[in-house]
Amino acid sequence: MIDLNEKIVQALNDQIAYESFASSFYLALAYWCDDQALEGCKKFFLRQSDEERMHMLKIYEYMSESGVLPVTPAIEQPPVKYNSIQEAFNKVFEQERKVTAAIHNIVKMSDELRDYNTLNFMQWYVEEQREEEAAIRTILDRIKVIGEGGQSLYYIDKEVEKINDLIVAAEGEAE
Ligand code: FEO
Repeated sequence: MIDLNEKIVQALNDQIAYESFASSFYLALAYWCDDQALEGCKKFFLRQSDEERMHMLKIYEYMSESGVLPVTPAIEQPPVKYNSIQEAFNKVFEQERKVTAAIHNIVKMSDELRDYNTLNFMQWYVEEQREEEAAIRTILDRIKVIGEGGQSLYYIDKEVEKINDLIVAAEGEAE
């Protein structure tokens, strides 16, 4: 059993809440995309919602292995509607930047408290966030290139589906 500092326990519980919110946020987005007939984007966000739940569960396990009872957070209502797919992906980027900042904060805190177990545990999240942000940046770049012409939604949806397929393939190789 590892002794976790109470500040770390608080930060990990907060992180559970952020990951839980992210999972709901992406689930709501998946069905907004479904409503807009954006099937590629729906797939992307459904997979992302599952990943965020897995991120949350990993923290539950880490806390439990450390002899700490994790706190299951209240469910916060995510946005249900967007004006455009461009707006949706901009919100996604903002959301991920917030999560990255929270993760970096736990890394900094565990380093200061010489909690090398938590510091080591959080490295996986640092890399995961870097990959997520890179994927969303790529999508935002493609959206800019495609522009806002008549068939742009069709092409954006196809591009997002392609990027989603690449992520799924890379995850399969990593297993
Ligand atoms: Fe697990 Fe994308 O935050």
